[in-house]
Amino acid sequence: MVALDKPDAKAALELADRLQGSGCWMKVGMELFYAAGPAIVRELKSRGFRIFLDLKMHDIPNTVRGGARSIARLGVDLFNVHGAGGLSMMRAAMEGVRDALESGDAERAPLVIAVTQLTSTSQDVLNAEIGIPGALEDAVVRYAKRAHEAGLQGVVASPLEVSAIKAACGAGFITVTPGIRPRGADVGDQSRITTPRDAVEGGTDYLVIGRPITAADSPEKALDHILKELTQ
Ligand code: C5P
Repeated sequence: MVALDKPDAKAALELADRLQGSGCWMKVGMELFYAAGPAIVRELKSRGFRIFLDLKMHDIPNTVRGGARSIARLGVDLFNVHGAGGLSMMRAAMEGVRDALESGDAERAPLVIAVTQLTSTSQDVLNAEIGIPGALEDAVVRYAKRAHEAGLQGVVASPLEVSAIKAACGAGFITVTPGIRPRGADVGDQSRITTPRDAVEGGTDYLVIGRPITAADSPEKALDHILKELTQ
């Protein structure tokens, strides 16, 4: 999944067009969605891309239910909420999807996943700033278990936590993992990272990669390089 973190529709579509035929999903996050809205999702869908709408909803259950209903109507393939919103909030997201299906406004249900802990969050930040005690992996697995209990299909986490999540929630529970950095790439603001190859060998289902592709002089070459490394 390529994180299409671009400031407007023109820049996003230019990049998406260069990655046509790669088989990659496009991840539409806050930067692009807040600028270009539902229209950019429809445009990318019409070009044949599968879409992960990464808006990380975190609000009271009633609001999340309505938000999920609107997202399901848009026809995205996957979207997410924050696990920190708790069980009833996550269940409300699933109810929103059901509302859209039952009213005939959505043809099929998108996958719904929960953010466990952002991949920019370090052990120190978790304990000292966010105020959650204990090991980061334990906090991630706790959120994954709650997401599973709420009926969500998976979680966003670091590739470093995939085996613990699968052990707790089953092999079929989807893991979507940002925090991917090819060897030698700029780490930026990420904290819990691995290479693409280590992530795949660790059992993740979907890699999310942004800047190593989107900030490259040639995004298609950067993607090609990563894909070659994975199949070698
Ligand atoms: O550029 P980079 O490869 O760091 O992009 C990672 C993408 O994944 C960003 O769009 C970021 O918002 C998203 N993401 C993340 N950590 C999460 C959830 C989403 O980095 N836990």
